Amino acid sequence: MAEPPREHALDEMVEPVVPSRFRWLARLLDAGPGARIVDLGCGTGAAFDAILSSLADPSAGSVIGLDSSVEALRTTGRGLAPWPATARLLIQADLNAPLPVADAAADRVLCHNVLECLPDQDALLREAHRVLRPGGKLLLSHSDFDALVFACEPGDLALTRRLVHAYCDTQQAWMDAVDGTVGRRLVEIVGRSPLVVETVDAAVVLSRRFQPGELGYGYAHNLVSALTDAGAADPAELERWLAGLRRMDERGAFLFSVNDYAVVCRRPWRRHRRPRAPCTSRPGSRQNPGPR
Ligand SMILES: C[S@@+](CC[C@H](N)C(=O)[O-])C[C@H]1O[C@@H](n2cnc3c(N)ncnc32)[C@H](O)[C@@H]1O
Repeated sequence: MAEPPREHALDEMVEPVVPSRFRWLARLLDAGPGARIVDLGCGTGAAFDAILSSLADPSAGSVIGLDSSVEALRTTGRGLAPWPATARLLIQADLNAPLPVADAAADRVLCHNVLECLPDQDALLREAHRVLRPGGKLLLSHSDFDALVFACEPGDLALTRRLVHAYCDTQQAWMDAVDGTVGRRLVEIVGRSPLVVETVDAAVVLSRRFQPGELGYGYAHNLVSALTDAGAADPAELERWLAGLRRMDERGAFLFSVNDYAVVCRRPWRRHRRPRAPCTSRPGSRQNPGPR
């Protein structure tokens, strides 16, 4: 019998929520009244919060959240509780496998900060195309982890650069692969799929406090545990780095930022057909070369 998937701590996998980040994504998703929305790797449902609050009548539509983590889905379920039970569906699903969603069942699909950990990114895009109705849209967004900025004490600049690059390339226990620079390649990935790129956007997410619940604090601690688990940095050096960030915060000088990239792409209305062959080109007949 197949092993059930291992549960990982939520704060290892899901970033602290920055509401402005998800309001930006909700605007790009542009889900109209009655939209059927699927969130691939919904985590704790932060995107649903923003999307539903952006709709005039949230109860007219429906949402499906897919994630492999039962704990994440439980948290999402609590957030969605005010919605009619018929309009929400949370499914534990592995995004490496065919999605448990019918063909052409969705008006909007979104996927934020999930692609980096999937070994076959193209397969997920093919699945997104399948579940979208013709004309439906996928919002594919991702941070670029090679460009994390931590304002640090002057003596820690080289160390900070080294830690950020090592973090970007480190596969954590909850990931099936690692591709920390995927944010800058979303357009190329969509270009290999049957979807058509409509718009490309970027946003900087800024964090000014080094305190629990803040994005920069979450990333710094995730970096420390990821590099410690991987044996990729000296624990004393990591502790010294965190102490420097705490001092920056005490002086009001702490700053963290991450760049998010977002591609809105559409399932074409019709399949692009090849032009018919001229009727003279029956098997065995000579091809008419046509005008030059
Ligand atoms: C960084 S979090 C992003 C969550 C959410 N999209 C957000 O923006 O807050 C990554 C999520 O992907 C989920 N995930 C990772 N690998 C998965 C897989 N193979 N199948 C389904 N979900 C997966 C994790 O459980 C986690 O909730």
